[in-house]
Amino acid sequence: MPEPHPSLQNCNILFVDDDRQILELVQQFLLHRGIHVTITPAASEALQMVAETPYDVVFSDLMMPEMDGLELLKAIKATRSNTEVVIVTGHGSIETAIQALKLGGYDYLQKPINFDRLTILLERIWENKRLKEENVFIKERLKDRYKYDELVGISPRMQQVYEIIDRISMGAPTVLIQGESGTGKELVANVIHRNSQRRHKPFIPVNCGAISEHLLESELFGHIKGAFSGAIRDTVGLFKAADGGTLFLDEIAEIPPSLQVKLLRALQEQRIRRVGDVSELPVNVRVIAATNKILEDEIESQRFRKDLYYRLNVIAIHMPALREIKEDVPFLIHHFIRRFSRKNANRVLNVSQEAMDILIKYQWPGNVRELENVIERAYALCVGDTIAPADLPPEIQNFGETLSVGETNFNLKDNEIRLIRKALQRTQGNKAETARLLGINLSTVYRKMDKYGIQSPA
Ligand SMILES: Nc1ncnc2c1ncn2[C@@H]1O[C@H](COP(=O)(O)OP(=O)(O)OP(=O)(O)O)[C@@H](O)[C@H]1O
Ligand SMILES: [Mg+2]
Repeated sequence: MPEPHPSLQNCNILFVDDDRQILELVQQFLLHRGIHVTITPAASEALQMVAETPYDVVFSDLMMPEMDGLELLKAIKATRSNTEVVIVTGHGSIETAIQALKLGGYDYLQKPINFDRLTILLERIWENKRLKEENVFIKERLKDRYKYDELVGISPRMQQVYEIIDRISMGAPTVLIQGESGTGKELVANVIHRNSQRRHKPFIPVNCGAISEHLLESELFGHIKGAFSGAIRDTVGLFKAADGGTLFLDEIAEIPPSLQVKLLRALQEQRIRRVGDVSELPVNVRVIAATNKILEDEIESQRFRKDLYYRLNVIAIHMPALREIKEDVPFLIHHFIRRFSRKNANRVLNVSQEAMDILIKYQWPGNVRELENVIERAYALCVGDTIAPADLPPEIQNFGETLSVGETNFNLKDNEIRLIRKALQRTQGNKAETARLLGINLSTVYRKMDKYGIQSPA
């Protein structure tokens, strides 16, 4: 006896035939192989069952008193297009078979039933179904890949970010987001909140760098009346305001040392003490912190407490600089154009190949924020329906030109000197940044500056 596909045990099968003997035979045969089958002698009952259960496959006799197999097939396909139907017939005529297939039937089986053929048919249906589902699944995943909520990007670096957000969506661990200015740290914090179970509670952003030390404490934790001059009434802080939700502590590196201790305590205990108060209040707040500084450096220079860093860095997200994920540039551009077009009577613009090349080559010191601004400007300036190089800011156009169009001097050494000078200018003499822009080692930058006698601008 041939062994069936092991996963056929999960296949949901219905067999309809007015001949009870056949039903019992089929049931015995399949049960013997560990495959469960539901049986019924009445077509009307079969329809009822199909409405209630998403069968993977229905076998139906052709000649039945209430309703013939083809009618049943039609009715099943109308309600459950994913259910495969096989017509079983003792009066095997080619015409009936063709008609069954035309009506969306999967195949037909002749009586007396050949059980090997029945098994093979089942296996084929089951395997096809699995492949179909896998395909849909892969397409679903691919569809999501260039975008996660408002976050756009197909690069592996962005995929990693999506994966982390996905993974932490069921819990509420503290997150530390690091990355250069304009890389989307605040957007990520927003997306984390929106995709967490706290999404119906507040998301409260605080810029720790924009508030003085004294004010920041009362801003975060609140104060009681008379705590300091000007404290004319009790005030709840942002921690309390974010209760049940998320507090986004932006520019966390700017938080003064005295407050770092209090923040650590609040995070550890989930309790806060208002300025001037003697007792503590319980809070339930998820904290997401962000900084464009390298926090590890801040710790080394003792400006940031290591214990607070560990408490915040439960989940670490590093946002890539745009120059590291150039493959995302076209996706971001189209994303921004679509967004602007929604505000502008759906005027959708294309981007010329030349303009696109320039935008991809540019190094984007201001990252996605700079790209967004450049596209907004181009969108406003563009008179036709295609953004051209002329719609881009001059420094970006020139950046493109020196590297591609309009080139007249092909002398490698001249161009090398010019590019090093340019990179130094752009980075205001920052050698490490210059090395990164040029894609060479720091020591090579020094060696070449020495060799060509290039002076640093700053
Ligand atoms: N991957 C992305 N997809 C779509 N938009 C993005 C992406 N990254 C950034 N942006 C957009 O770029 C702009 C800057 O992002 P955001 O303010 O989050 O940066 P940031 O890292 O917080 O910068 P800063 O350190 O200067 O505060 C926002 O308008 C944001 O919506
Ligand atoms: Mg920000």
